[in-house]
Amino acid sequence: MVGVAGFEPATPASRTQCSTGLSHTPTETAAYSVAFHALQEADFGDFEPVTAGLMTEISTAGEAELAQAARALAEGRLVAFPTETVYGLGADATNADAIARLYQAKGRPAFNPLISHVADLAAAGKIGRFDAPALALAKAFWPGPLTLVLPKTRDCAVAELATAGLDTIAIRIPSHRIARAILTAFGKPVVAPSANISGHVSPTTAQHVESDLAGRIDLIVDGGPVDVGVESTIVGCFEEPMLLRPGGLPREEIERVLGRALVRPPADVESDSAQPLAPGMLASHYAPRTRVRLNATDVAPDEALLAFGPALKDAERAAAVMNLSGSGDLNEAATNLFGYLRALDARMAKTIAVMPIPNHGLGEAINDRLRRAAVERE
Ligand code: TXA
Ligand code: MG
Repeated sequence: MVGVAGFEPATPASRTQCSTGLSHTPTETAAYSVAFHALQEADFGDFEPVTAGLMTEISTAGEAELAQAARALAEGRLVAFPTETVYGLGADATNADAIARLYQAKGRPAFNPLISHVADLAAAGKIGRFDAPALALAKAFWPGPLTLVLPKTRDCAVAELATAGLDTIAIRIPSHRIARAILTAFGKPVVAPSANISGHVSPTTAQHVESDLAGRIDLIVDGGPVDVGVESTIVGCFEEPMLLRPGGLPREEIERVLGRALVRPPADVESDSAQPLAPGMLASHYAPRTRVRLNATDVAPDEALLAFGPALKDAERAAAVMNLSGSGDLNEAATNLFGYLRALDARMAKTIAVMPIPNHGLGEAINDRLRRAAVERE
């Protein structure tokens, strides 16, 4: 048994029972922690800087195009593709040069670690070590909008640059047909952050990707609008399972499978100076350019209104109005969230006023993204 409180590798019995193809090396004793080492310039390797004017090809997702996407990944290229949550910008997770170019294309802080996407549980077990709760979550919710943060396996092939020096790794098996086809054809883990410039709103259509990243990436596979509309829920499989990011899978469903409540991350991880336990928690992360005002119960004529449920009575005097869900359906609201934020941002109003959103189900993820969008920036 590994001498880490609360973390036990799956027992041989449970391994046979599950017959998932996961294998844990019982002798593996790497202690689990959120250790972090600062990446050096050398970690970025030698790579061609992104100069303006890559020819970004946009293809519809036919069989030939999916094969082309897998080939492009194998050549170290950057390929945007739809997942059920948001569009991801994919790169070969084992190719540090490709990952360095990905960080650069997104303009992403280099310490922000990436999610490795794989096609099946056997592939996940090669890069992350599952304890019993992690395995239960994987079996209940994969493929789907859940990311698990796990201790890395010793022979994890994912480049250090992708995990930003952490000894844990974020893993997800997406359910989208196109994402799965690309992952299966490629056969290796693919890192895929949301396919937007760092700090912008996540893309839910190929056109959103194009408007942020055209000229900076090689290929966009267009699979139409996504289903879920907010990113995956991230659970840290630590001594106590921790909700690192609310997302497309409601907390309640995860807690039902675990039979216990998810713990909250330490309060100080929200501050920019904190160690990046989950740097997606950086305060201002999902940001439109327009200032955002939350919990609006009225709206001024120079404001754009992001409504939810029955519209405010003074809504018609707003500069623009979009309703996330007139019927108050949180799933519908999640699907519309990023697209509507983008559209209202483009109206150049003084402020985007946002009506209150209930905090249950997908409402928790929606409110999380809205709070980040509302953080004052210079
Ligand atoms: O739905 C999604 O998750 C989308 C689609 C494309 O799959 N991807 C996505 O990736 O949202 P990204 O890179 O935008 O967000 C990844 C989040 C970040 O908040 C990052 O800090 C966190 O995952 N993360 C990655 N590795 C981590 C680790 N080892 N420990 C804690 N957090 C980690
Ligand atoms: Mg993102």
